[in-house]
Amino acid sequence: MTARLALGLCAVLLSPGARAAPDPALLNDKPAFIADLMSQMTLDEKIGQLRLISIGPDMPREKIAGEIAAGRIGGTFNSVVHADNRMMQDAARKSRLRIPLFFAYDVVHGHRTIFPIGLGLASSWDMGAIERAARVSAIEAAADSLDMTFAPMVDISRDPRWGRTSEGFGEDPYLVSRIAQATVKGYQGPSPARADSIMASVKHFALYGAVEGGRDYNVVDMSPLRMYQDYLPPYRAAIDAGAGGVMVALNSINGIPASANTWLLQDLLRKDWGFRGVAVSDHGAITELVRHGVARDGREAARLAIRAGVDMSMADTLYLQELPGLVKSGEVNVAEIDRSVRNVLGAKYDMGLFHDPYLRIGAAVDDPPDLYAEGRMHRADARELARKALVLLENRNQALPLARTAAVALVGPLADSPLDMMGSWSAAGKGQSSITLRQGMEEAMRGKGRLLYARGANVTDDPRVVDYLNFLNWDRKEVFQDPRPPADMIAEAVGLAGQADVIVAAVGESRGMSHESSSRTRLDIPASQRSLLHALKATGKPLVLVLMNGRPLDLQWESANADALLETWYSGTEGGHAIADVLFGDYNPAGKLPISFPRSIGQIPTYYNHPRVGRPFVEGKPGNYTSQYFEEKNGPLYPFGYGLSYTDFTVSDISLSSTRMERGGRLAARATVANIGQRPGETVVQLYLRDETASVVRPVKELRDFRRVSLAPGESRVIQFDIGEEDLKFFNARLEHVAEPGEFEVQIGLDSRAVRSQRFELR
Ligand code: NOJ
Repeated sequence: MTARLALGLCAVLLSPGARAAPDPALLNDKPAFIADLMSQMTLDEKIGQLRLISIGPDMPREKIAGEIAAGRIGGTFNSVVHADNRMMQDAARKSRLRIPLFFAYDVVHGHRTIFPIGLGLASSWDMGAIERAARVSAIEAAADSLDMTFAPMVDISRDPRWGRTSEGFGEDPYLVSRIAQATVKGYQGPSPARADSIMASVKHFALYGAVEGGRDYNVVDMSPLRMYQDYLPPYRAAIDAGAGGVMVALNSINGIPASANTWLLQDLLRKDWGFRGVAVSDHGAITELVRHGVARDGREAARLAIRAGVDMSMADTLYLQELPGLVKSGEVNVAEIDRSVRNVLGAKYDMGLFHDPYLRIGAAVDDPPDLYAEGRMHRADARELARKALVLLENRNQALPLARTAAVALVGPLADSPLDMMGSWSAAGKGQSSITLRQGMEEAMRGKGRLLYARGANVTDDPRVVDYLNFLNWDRKEVFQDPRPPADMIAEAVGLAGQADVIVAAVGESRGMSHESSSRTRLDIPASQRSLLHALKATGKPLVLVLMNGRPLDLQWESANADALLETWYSGTEGGHAIADVLFGDYNPAGKLPISFPRSIGQIPTYYNHPRVGRPFVEGKPGNYTSQYFEEKNGPLYPFGYGLSYTDFTVSDISLSSTRMERGGRLAARATVANIGQRPGETVVQLYLRDETASVVRPVKELRDFRRVSLAPGESRVIQFDIGEEDLKFFNARLEHVAEPGEFEVQIGLDSRAVRSQRFELR
């Protein structure tokens, strides 16, 4: 037991005026402790526990304290200040039963230190590194008195129009499930009750990434097969990894909003999956049941949500107002309230708060004077993660790496934009702490080459988009619009390019364009930046594009015209250093795309693991009456799993230990991976399986395993993957998880398209 825990326990046991409840003697027996506590709670006190409120900067603190002391609040979010949380916890300790509050926050890709956005983290394919990012986030968040995060966000997303694609980990159920496990492990550590851990709440349950047309908050209509096979596994993986919380999605699923969906929240989540934690609503989602048109008014909305199994209502007062009357009239049973209260108290118990309500708040004397002091930040981790998140998409004529001694013209509206570096959902991150590309390159070139800088263009000059971004208005300075005429800005950039050996252009989307509610109808780089790029191309100087964006973009022009393309997503606090490390060759990029890049918006969806069809398009054999778009090349521009390196790798000699697998058996698949280039480097060897025939239509292939390997120039290594019957399973028409006998193809490669294969039979 830590000293802090022991002290806290004493506080619970010995503080003057302590009442009988909760009974400290039962503290180490969770079910008995909670049952004893609940036996002493009034209905109002129970209902109070189901309320999760957002703490805004201008909310009157005394009023909140009064509500808490009256037992009308169970937890808060958006308060990250020690003194505030201490004051609120003090108020909870004054309530009749002294039930502690918990403090939650959106710690999504870092807390004070910001890591790359979800798509960036996923591009690393490095589970150890991703777990480390979540661990560091937990350490920083817990040190800021937080107990819970609304993460990981594991919504599979196959429609890049959806702005929240940026937050998730891409299109593939297997990769996202592995990341779900790694992040839960990182946030919660060995136990969510530790002072340096926070509880994970997986979101958005469920299927939020499949909103129709990629338009945020839209409906989801999906077949059960697709749900079970592709969209549900990551939530399940997070829960199996021990996530203590679930956030219920805002969307409806096949006609029933998730927040009123008994099948989802009880049959699937609790009965089938055995989830025992707490289910919280999303922001205002219970009230929104009225707008979905399934509830007449707030009273009916509260009834539907509590009966379906939404334990806590976030940011509304509906439970508080309506549940007492609903219980009185018999429309809601006390047993239904009790079920949710038990889940809330259980989560608080698991967070260690009954043992020590001040576990993460600590004592006032220990409050950090400077929350952004270097010692509190984890810059080395951020730089390491950011480097791993970078994906080299093109590199012609060895345009990269750059010589430090070169004269470089750095242009583009994202080259020196500290807020954009962090991406959306950057929690308590501050722009002042983040290193821009300009700063990173200046440091790398100091005393050597020459760095010339011009902004060149605004992210967009479209007044409609500018208005939208200003409306989001983070930090009240979200959109900087350079007032100069676009032609002048371009002329300045072109002038600098004329004096340089090479142009580096940082272009893409501002972070607000890839955020909640930020759905797009186009996937191109906005026109203002496009004009800049065309003018730069016309100079004839080598053109390196550093892309910053939160979704796959349509890069047809860029891929044909740039000499090098580096996808950096939004790479976080240390992004500028990390990108400079790659540009100057101090780090050899190894990131791989966790999501396919379409050629055009009309191709959406473009995910690699699509179900088979009767008339597939065959590459090289275009023709009528096959499943294709006739106006342009078929298939993605950059496939899932793709990413280049400064060295070259090959995969050869695929072999299987047997051409047969018996039921319950295993076999080994081997391949030789070689570094045939001049530099040491890392790559990700990927294993895909294709089920040749089954009782239902199966995907053309599915990722089943991968390995990151590091090889010296000239080195080769045999990589072995173990395949078991479990890996061959899928959901059949009765939604049973089965492996059916027949042929399977094992494909091994360095992306989902370029693979070599062998076959075996399951008997
Ligand atoms: C709404 C978002 O959908 C959700 O992801 C987030 O956790 C909550 N707001 C709380 O900020």
